[in-house]
Amino acid sequence: MTENTTDMNPSTVAARGGWSADFTTRTSSPPVYMTTAFDIESLEQLDAVTGGHEKGYIYTRDGNPNHEAFANDVAMLEGAESGVVTASGMGALTAVLMAMLKSGDHVVAARVLYGRTGQLLNHLASSFGIKVSYFDIDDPDALRACLTSGTRLCIVESISNPLLEVADLPAIVGALAGIPLLVDSTFATPCLLRPIDHGATLVWHSVSKYLNGHGDVMAGIVVGPSNLVRKIRAMSSLYGVNANPFESWLASRGLRTLPLRMQRVCETALDVARFLRSFPQVARVAYPGLDDHPHFERAARLLPHGCGGMLAFDLRGGRSAVDSLFRSLAHTIPFSPTLADARTTVSYPSGTSHKFMSADERLACGIGDGLVRLSIGLEAPTDLKRELGTAISRMKHVE
Ligand SMILES: Cc1ncc(COP(=O)(O)O)c(C=O)c1O
Repeated sequence: MTENTTDMNPSTVAARGGWSADFTTRTSSPPVYMTTAFDIESLEQLDAVTGGHEKGYIYTRDGNPNHEAFANDVAMLEGAESGVVTASGMGALTAVLMAMLKSGDHVVAARVLYGRTGQLLNHLASSFGIKVSYFDIDDPDALRACLTSGTRLCIVESISNPLLEVADLPAIVGALAGIPLLVDSTFATPCLLRPIDHGATLVWHSVSKYLNGHGDVMAGIVVGPSNLVRKIRAMSSLYGVNANPFESWLASRGLRTLPLRMQRVCETALDVARFLRSFPQVARVAYPGLDDHPHFERAARLLPHGCGGMLAFDLRGGRSAVDSLFRSLAHTIPFSPTLADARTTVSYPSGTSHKFMSADERLACGIGDGLVRLSIGLEAPTDLKRELGTAISRMKHVE
């Protein structure tokens, strides 16, 4: 690792990375260790490496220099001791849940979460005897009331998908009174918020999003205290949710520009959010940097460097209005069920990320049929506003 990183600005940490000390060939860019296994000199060496007395690698499912380089960099940026990179964001969540829970344990989770996170928790509840309670992130008393002697973990998103709700992490940590908190910080990234600084235990990300930032990687990461990360890494290996070395390498390369990208998308998203508000076809714009967002003041306190590049808006006219908009945007701002690409994309939570909830459950979370999620990219804001403005004005279905 690079020395004395604690005093460095995140831009410096991200730009340099910490890989060089672990590689002996002095390439100016890290090589890709595209190997299934690593040759071992002797049984003595095998024991030393597996026992943690000697640095080394045995089998890529258990560890690989590219995994380690990326995980160390993200841990540094998040202010964590160490991390483990996985095959996807969901792989990271799976490894955490397998490391921290057993049948009969209780988990508390925010009511509004990425749809598949909720789906995985419901699956564990119905098939593996894990008990799950959901709470409103604005109600620490409700959270306190959910806790039982069997509560082992609390799960929240620092900025929620898709409505950009901002979790009051200090209040949640206070209510938990020592119960571990796992924060999905995919939307915030360590450039905008470091959950561990606010008392969170573990932070996980879909690396497929901002950390990589180029729409060409599927990976996840979890960072936190080394004793816990060791158990999570063991589960990642056991369940086979380990990352691919090449994707870890790509993610390391993407990470080099994370601070610049985040600064740019924060500025553009605020500009576009204000612009969208002016259209009668748009019933509501959800962006925590807007003064009518319910968490505007909380965002100003917890996200002083900006609120990120994601926003959501409700179209009058529901699903057919969304379809009309997406058709007209198809050649400029494509409908793509991902986010945090270098290019701006739109998505439809009711039909993609939150499809697995019933319509009533979605509505209770504020996800209606007219909700569009917009992921701001690196284009010029003037071009984006012109393209969005033209497409909204041409929409066929307006009530
Ligand atoms: C907020 C959030 N968390 C987690 C995930 C899951 O990550 P992955 O798709 O890399 O498994 C996603 C995916 O969209 C997400 O948006």
